[in-house]
Amino acid sequence: MSERDPAAGDPAGPPEEDPRIQGEKHPVARMIALGTVLSLIGIAIALLIDWFPVSAAGSADEIDTVYDVLLICSVPVFILVMTVAIYSVVRFRAKPGDMRDGAPIHGNTRLEVIWVTIPFLMVTALAIYGWIVLDDLEAKQPNTLVVNVTGQQFTWSFDYPSEKVKSNELVLPKDRPVEFRIHTKDVLHSFWVPEFRLKSDAVPGLTTKIRLTPDRIGRYQVVCAELCGIGHSTMRQNVRVVAPPEFDSWLADQKEAAPAGGEAEGEAGDGGETGDSGEAGGGGEGGGDGAAVFAANGCGSCHTFKPANASGTVGPDLDEIETPTAAFIRRSIVDPNQEVAEGFAPDIMPQDLGETLSPGELDALVEYLLKAQE
Ligand code: CUA
Repeated sequence: MSERDPAAGDPAGPPEEDPRIQGEKHPVARMIALGTVLSLIGIAIALLIDWFPVSAAGSADEIDTVYDVLLICSVPVFILVMTVAIYSVVRFRAKPGDMRDGAPIHGNTRLEVIWVTIPFLMVTALAIYGWIVLDDLEAKQPNTLVVNVTGQQFTWSFDYPSEKVKSNELVLPKDRPVEFRIHTKDVLHSFWVPEFRLKSDAVPGLTTKIRLTPDRIGRYQVVCAELCGIGHSTMRQNVRVVAPPEFDSWLADQKEAAPAGGEAEGEAGDGGETGDSGEAGGGGEGGGDGAAVFAANGCGSCHTFKPANASGTVGPDLDEIETPTAAFIRRSIVDPNQEVAEGFAPDIMPQDLGETLSPGELDALVEYLLKAQE
């Protein structure tokens, strides 16, 4: 024996039975029985909880099934570990005043083989299952509609290259496969429509892709799922899944209205889950096109502006513009860093509105903002 701390007691004594585990024939059998009952209850609870919003794409059901399988596998593992840990703490705790060392256990090969093999098999099986599902979701489909998605601090824009249409609202025909090609103008964002389940980062310098088929008419929201700056939580945009004929007429409207941007809102949809910030476009009676430009460019996600029902706080409040002149407003849109309002940081406002807005849109927007100052 090696030299040990002499205060640790005399190891030479006869190896008497530890009274703490006397009379405890098969604690493992008890733990298994208790663990099985608790696992069944745990699985039932886990499956009863509604983890996700409604499913609006074919992929959603498959993904929900993956989650259910993961829950069914992980709940018993969690219960097993917790049962053994809690049972051991309660049952084998030292009695007050008992200062002896525990039994000198050196490992248990059989147990170690079991606890390495079972998790290995489970994780491998789940990985293979996940890969099969992902492969299926990413399969190319005929008649796919390509939509370019661009994230920027702090809004999303969409462009339908086959139709030469750009929009700040994501409109999709029901039952037609869509391929999203996701880009970013600045930092990392993450494109996510919870009802579609699939999510992908927008990575500077890369194009990431998601394929899915919307299968439920309704209104949803794109959510940015990557902390991207001060306006991250406001980086949301409307999504509408519509019947194919409605999609075609929307495309036609967009093409017609292209120079002015924006479009009239207000289809009935089917009641929609996400009505909160959606109706910005409809407001502003006197504003005409300006209201549409404001809505279409996501200005309301960062600015408060009563005529548009916007309540963003990332940028200055547009109800009270410091210098309410057309020249100042125009300059602040086109070259926002030239004069940054007190209390706000530079570079938060998009720097390229001078290029992305047509002269007509810019005039309309300036007029719309100026009018509200009176
Ligand atoms: Cu973009 Cu968070």
